[in-house]
Amino acid sequence: MKRLAVLLSGRGSNFKAIYKAIQDGNITNAEIAIVISNKADAKGLLFARDVGLDARFIDPASFSSREDFDKHVVNILNSKQIDLVCLAGFMRLITSYFINAYKDKIINIHPSLLPSFPGLNAQKQALEYGVKITGCTVHFVDEKVDHGPIILQRAVPVFDDDDVESLSERILKEEHKIYPEAINLIVNDKVEIKGRRVIVKKS
Ligand code: GAR
Repeated sequence: MKRLAVLLSGRGSNFKAIYKAIQDGNITNAEIAIVISNKADAKGLLFARDVGLDARFIDPASFSSREDFDKHVVNILNSKQIDLVCLAGFMRLITSYFINAYKDKIINIHPSLLPSFPGLNAQKQALEYGVKITGCTVHFVDEKVDHGPIILQRAVPVFDDDDVESLSERILKEEHKIYPEAINLIVNDKVEIKGRRVIVKKS
């Protein structure tokens, strides 16, 4: 059984989708061992607590640097024997220390078809650029923001009357499908990283 950590900062709808996928048997061979948030009042953290998970707020203000914060997080992840770290709306850049400590074991979901529209407000960026198709991406995390090898992507149409809210909602529905799918592949050893490419092994 693989042990997951979920890191989040807000609503936590992707975390809930992962939690539900485990409950429903759509992710096999994995359990959520800890949920960590850098925001005390993150809705996702409160949900995690409600369902009895180990849910911890780590206050960035208690640390003098980003790296010290990440060292603390890594110590906790080590103590919980975590196999895979899932960033789910964790709105904080993570340092090389963290990335090296969990090399190829940290994944993220981003609301665009990377490499288009990395960074903040990806849906707004897509609308402003005028693309007709956008989507979402699950990828391994490397040293650059929203850059590591891509595991799964799903395309979503942009409609003429879309605003950030309507587009975000359409993308989010697909996020909730591909994040659990990607996790299920990884925890069942179906994924191999070859350079920038992620190959899904045939069963
Ligand atoms: C999601 O749309 C996720 O893709 C995005 O934040 C939202 C979190 O929602 N992440 C990023 O933009 C990371 N660059 P959630 O808290 O309901 O899962």
